[in-house]
Amino acid sequence: MSLVPMTEFLPRAKKEGFAVGQFNMNNLEFVQGIAAAAKAEKSPFIFGVSEGAMRYMGLEYVVAMAEIAAKEAEVPVALHLDHGSSFEVAMKCIQAGFSSVMFDGSHHPYEENIRLTQEIVKAAHAVGVSVEGELGTIGGVEDDVQVDEEKAALANPKEAIRFWEETQVDAMAIAVGTAHGMYKGEPKIHFNIIEEVAQNIDAPIVLHGGSGVPDSAIQESIRLGVGKINVNTESQVACTQVIRDLLVSQPDMIDPRKYLGPGREAIQETVQGKMRLFGSSGKA
Ligand code: 13P
Repeated sequence: MSLVPMTEFLPRAKKEGFAVGQFNMNNLEFVQGIAAAAKAEKSPFIFGVSEGAMRYMGLEYVVAMAEIAAKEAEVPVALHLDHGSSFEVAMKCIQAGFSSVMFDGSHHPYEENIRLTQEIVKAAHAVGVSVEGELGTIGGVEDDVQVDEEKAALANPKEAIRFWEETQVDAMAIAVGTAHGMYKGEPKIHFNIIEEVAQNIDAPIVLHGGSGVPDSAIQESIRLGVGKINVNTESQVACTQVIRDLLVSQPDMIDPRKYLGPGREAIQETVQGKMRLFGSSGKA
C-alpha cells in the first residue's frame, strides 16, 4: 500500500476500542523490524520520525524507506512527523511525502499554540495530510524535546476540549502523566483527564511515552478513548540489549549484519507484542 493519513484508521480505532501504535523510526533495522511486525500481525501502524531521527537518516531516505516498507507490509501505514517544532518543518515533511504531521506547540502560550496549530491544520488538510496537536507538556527526553519531569504540566481537560474544537486536529496528544523514556517507578496516569477529554471530542487521544507503561494501564487508557500510542524506548532497549550481549560474548564479531540482524528481530518481537496489546492486530 502507499502511505496514508492517520484518518484512514484512527476514527475506526476510537469507535471500535483499539489503538494504533506509533513506532519510531531510528534506522533501517527499525523500518524493517516494524514493517515485518505489522505484516505478521496484519496491523495498521504509524512510523514516527523525530527531527533528530530525520537529521540522522536524511529526509529523502526516510520517505523512500517508509514507502517501500508500506508496500512490503501490505497494511495501512502513516509516515508521521513526531514533535514537529515549526510550520516550516511540517511543510518540508509534507512536500517530501509525509502523510501526517504532529505540531508540538505545547511550550507556547495556550492561545498561541491554538493559532499555530490552526495554520498547520489548514495547510495539511488542504493536501490530505493528517495532523496531531499537543497540549500540556510530556516529561522526559525525546531527541530535541526535553522536559524536566517535575515541571511537566498535565493538560487541563476544558482547555483540551476547546483546543480540539478550534483546531480540528485528527489526533490529540494531552499530557496525562506519561513521560518519554523508561520510568523509574510506575507512571501515574490521570485516567480522569483521558475520560473527560475523550468524551467531548471526536478525535482519539494520543498517549506519548508508551514504553514501560503497565499493560493494564494501557488497556484502561484505550477503553477510555486513547486511539494512538507512541513507543520508541522499549524497541531501542530490546534492540540494544541483544546487540550488547552479542558483542560482549563474541568480541571478534565484526560483520554488522551478524548483530544488527538479531537487533532487528528484537524490534519486531517488541512491536508485535505492542500491536497485540493495543488490539490493532488483524485490523489492517
Ligand atoms: P517512549 O520513547 O517513552 O516510548 O515515547 C515515545 C514517544 O512518545 C514519541 O513521541
